[in-house]
Amino acid sequence: MGKTLETNAQWINDTWEKIDRKLSKVCIKSRDKLPSTTVDGVHDDRSVTSPEWWTNGFWGGMMWLMYLGTQNEEYKKTAIRSEELLDKALENYKGLHHDVGFMWIPTSVANYRITGDKAAFNKALYIASVLFSRYNIDGGYIRAWNNWNDSPEDPNKTWTIIDCLLNIPLLYWASEEIGDDRFAKVAIRHADMAIRDHIRPDGSVNHIVEHDDKTGELVKVHTGQGYSETSSWSRGVSWAVYGMALSYIHTKQQRYLDAAILTADHFIECCKKTNYLPLVDFYAPEEPVYYDASAGMCAACGMIEIAKCLGGERGEYYMNEAINILKAADEHFCNYSDDEDALVLMNCGRYPHNEKEMARSKPHVPLIFGDFYFVEAMFKLKGNDFLIW
Ligand code: GLY
Repeated sequence: MGKTLETNAQWINDTWEKIDRKLSKVCIKSRDKLPSTTVDGVHDDRSVTSPEWWTNGFWGGMMWLMYLGTQNEEYKKTAIRSEELLDKALENYKGLHHDVGFMWIPTSVANYRITGDKAAFNKALYIASVLFSRYNIDGGYIRAWNNWNDSPEDPNKTWTIIDCLLNIPLLYWASEEIGDDRFAKVAIRHADMAIRDHIRPDGSVNHIVEHDDKTGELVKVHTGQGYSETSSWSRGVSWAVYGMALSYIHTKQQRYLDAAILTADHFIECCKKTNYLPLVDFYAPEEPVYYDASAGMCAACGMIEIAKCLGGERGEYYMNEAINILKAADEHFCNYSDDEDALVLMNCGRYPHNEKEMARSKPHVPLIFGDFYFVEAMFKLKGNDFLIW
């Protein structure tokens, strides 16, 4: 154990216990749901209304991590149940999208790796093939989303998003499993495109990039969930931090670790200014202030992995910054009481520019991936070495 972990051991243990105390109850209460947020403190359920929703794998993944971290069988039961509920999404092929990695890595891949379940293995490889098939051979990238509104022009056909870096570990896994590197080659092409077209020299990122579909060249940057197309959407940066760290872990290509460090340094520099509580967008106007806890949680996961890859004093630096972010979240964003199903309250789906957008996506709400990445970060800090991605 490094000195940063030693110094923080008490806080890590106390926080893990608080998480387990709460989740051991919510795990049973929400067993038959695929939660994405809470309404009046109670988990919603996407399992029937929108089984293809991109966040539907996080609840199951969180349950697997809690099971591994506590050996409490109740968590395992809920994890397996959540994968069953997710099967509904497989009934609609056209509903599947680039985010299938977010959905089935923490569920079916995790199930197979933990229990050896054959059905989970087959499902995960099928889903890896779905992701693989979204690759644009000429352009060298994985397409984001599907044709919105089934429009004849298919206007978003050549778009990529930074978020997809968290989906491509499904392709690395498939190649590792079947001993054939064709899946990983697609992941590598996509990650290289992200370094070229999404990550800016200052470590901030373009959320959405439109490409030339013959050459793959960047045609246009579009505003996504951040303030503007030139701003710095914090969760987008966190996808780059953790996503690039994961590409490095799976491939050992130094350029991915360098990209993870560049984006992590940007994230740290920006969120230090607000006492380690990340804003939704680091380049947004000073007022109004909108936070996004999930960005910090995901970036912290990436920083912990960077720390492990680097080791030594540089590693201690990133571990310490990850803990600074998590401690600030623990103090200001978390809810450990039984009257609220979510753990992390202050997340934000997208930067709201006006009342209309605010009505569609309210800031400072529970979002299941905020909880997931918090649990994952604490699971790592507890010394568990199961890397779910
Ligand atoms: N992947 C979508 C989001 O970050 O909200």
